[in-house]
Amino acid sequence: MKQFLANKQILLGVTGGIAAYKSADLVRRLREVGAEVRVVMTDHAKEFITPLTMQAVSGNPVHEDLFDLKAEAAMGHIELARWADAILVAPATADFMARLLKGEANDLLTTLCLAAKAPIALAPAMNQGMWKNTLTQNNVQALREKGIHILGPSEGSQACGDVGPGRMLEPLDIVDRLAQIFVSGSLAGKHVVITAGPTHEAIDPVRFISNASSGKMGYALAEAAVEAGARVTLISGPVSLSKPARMKVIDVVSAQDMFAAVMAEMQECDIFLSVAAVADYRCKTTASQKIAKTAEKLTLELERNPDILANVAKLSPRPFVIGFAAETEDLEKKAQAKLMNKNLDMIIANQVGEGVGIGSEENAVTVLWKDGKQEFAKMSKQKLARELIKFIGSFFNKIN
Ligand code: C5P
Repeated sequence: MKQFLANKQILLGVTGGIAAYKSADLVRRLREVGAEVRVVMTDHAKEFITPLTMQAVSGNPVHEDLFDLKAEAAMGHIELARWADAILVAPATADFMARLLKGEANDLLTTLCLAAKAPIALAPAMNQGMWKNTLTQNNVQALREKGIHILGPSEGSQACGDVGPGRMLEPLDIVDRLAQIFVSGSLAGKHVVITAGPTHEAIDPVRFISNASSGKMGYALAEAAVEAGARVTLISGPVSLSKPARMKVIDVVSAQDMFAAVMAEMQECDIFLSVAAVADYRCKTTASQKIAKTAEKLTLELERNPDILANVAKLSPRPFVIGFAAETEDLEKKAQAKLMNKNLDMIIANQVGEGVGIGSEENAVTVLWKDGKQEFAKMSKQKLARELIKFIGSFFNKIN
């Protein structure tokens, strides 16, 4: 479950309760499972734990004040709200929950909660009497109805000497419960086949023709599809990425290998996502021995590889077919043409160059289909993958 937090950007709000001493451990646990954490502290939280501690464990500057010029210049509060994949408030005091429910924005944390579109999770921590109080219970119920996730609290001995409900969940339990928020089931039970990476077309036993595809976009889409509940088969060309968990990975080398592997998976495929940068041509003959550099000129005769995507689109019955179009110019026009010519259900068009697309960390895309389009602004490939899978999932579910 915890793997769902890998690469997630978590904004941890710490409010003023004695359980705040556990928030430092919580940051470490979140980072252990691959999340990036930024901490926002209320003034009262700082009575229990220092910003220096939270900065040291999170590896990021702590955000404390709505009107801090320096902090605003580095990462403004609206930018911070946008940055978050989820806001986790742990501990969340009775006072914080009451203020959040009222829609107040009288400190940085409540302001961020109001501004963010990301899911919000609260780990309440307070004295058992305060927790049981109907005012608190009513607030908790109302927050739940607004879609805010309430994690815990647990029961047991309390810092004040009481015994009862109101203890903050242990950090590991909070991490587990937070991860569950990211398991969106939009592709639950669906078989998604994804190709990724480049292909290698052999010239001789040591040389090949290839391209700069890193496989990152395809791998990120495969991970996001798993998170969305899909059964995923990833057919990967040669890449230097580590093998992702929780999916079937089929390693291939050439376009012809990839073609065969894809076709073998098509009997029971709901969605086919062709992200691989498949080599369009291969050598007509592959030398059985290393070619020596004796001649001044060397001519390689190339022949066309099968177009895997177009062939999948010709199948009957066929899955929902999505292609990628990486272009350096006339992006939308060319993508539109591919959508039509290859008879695709959807195409994801991405501009190549200037820090986006092939081989880079970020991507910006336009998704096109027969009668519409949707833009996705430049963001990390992981984040984009989740957004795309969310979009594809709801599109697919609408037409099926
Ligand atoms: O025609 P073009 O290669 O630009 O189209 C890109 C799309 O086609 C990508 O989705 C790519 O994975 C797929 N493709 C394929 N087989 C090929 C060439 C491209 O599946 N031989």
